[in-house]
Amino acid sequence: MALRTVGITKSFRGLEVLRGVDLTVAAGTLHSVIGPNGAGKTTLFNVLSGAIRPTSGRVEVRGRDVTGLAPHQLTRLGLSRSFQVTSVFPGLTVEENLAVAAMAGQPHDSGILRRPRWTGAVAARVEELLDQLGLTGMRRLEAGVLSHGDQRRLDLGLTLASEPSIILLDEPTAGMTRTEAHQTMGTLERVLGGRTIVLVEHDMDLVMRISARVSVLHRGILIADGPPEEVRENPEVREAYLVGVGRE
Ligand SMILES: Nc1ncnc2c1ncn2[C@@H]1O[C@H](COP(=O)(O)OP(=O)(O)OP(=O)(O)O)[C@@H](O)[C@H]1O
Ligand SMILES: [Mg+2]
Repeated sequence: MALRTVGITKSFRGLEVLRGVDLTVAAGTLHSVIGPNGAGKTTLFNVLSGAIRPTSGRVEVRGRDVTGLAPHQLTRLGLSRSFQVTSVFPGLTVEENLAVAAMAGQPHDSGILRRPRWTGAVAARVEELLDQLGLTGMRRLEAGVLSHGDQRRLDLGLTLASEPSIILLDEPTAGMTRTEAHQTMGTLERVLGGRTIVLVEHDMDLVMRISARVSVLHRGILIADGPPEEVRENPEVREAYLVGVGRE
């Protein structure tokens, strides 16, 4: 078991956003979490990645209780996440962005005040990421001038730089064209073979095609969990989506 939550609840000023979420993610699988806007998907990721503490419940990474650990501690345990909103450094070049992220994943961080080391393993990792993400030709461009789709790909690179074994991706293709989105997911499938991925994604065709398992959140409650074909046919899931669409 790569990742597990037991009875996760999160309230913001009395408003229950997550209500007793039990999620189990098997090692080496791509597991998607879907649900209408406001269902609690990002909040769940915030809990899983240590960005916020759950009101109650427990998070386990490979069987170890990690509830309340800080994000950097979880990174050291091999867990990395991407954000719904792109978090690249716009004033740094593509390769500098990747180098900074790769250095952050190093066990002996050189510290913020010392000149960072960008040699050896870090340089090799940067080359590998540039190649895998198809960003080699843009390596010396400032990230801020890239197209939205390319920034999202770079953002993925930042998440992958520390060579995490568990990766949480919050709408990695948000704002991309359909073609870009499918290309990016193709890249992901290639690059991420064997790792554990938890994916939040709105493109249902994509989710159903690439996920080993799908969990559905609705108003903070996990209403379905299973293989894609089973979840797709679930009447409660269909209902949740119809209601979700009706509210927008
Ligand atoms: N820090 C916060 N303070 C108060 N309410 C919050 C906070 N973060 C999230 N919420 C509320 O929690 C609910 C779930 O939000 P969340 O962002 O987790 O949903 P989501 O499933 O990721 O939605 P989307 O698909 O739009 O990204 C929403 O009603 C949101 O307004
Ligand atoms: Mg969200």
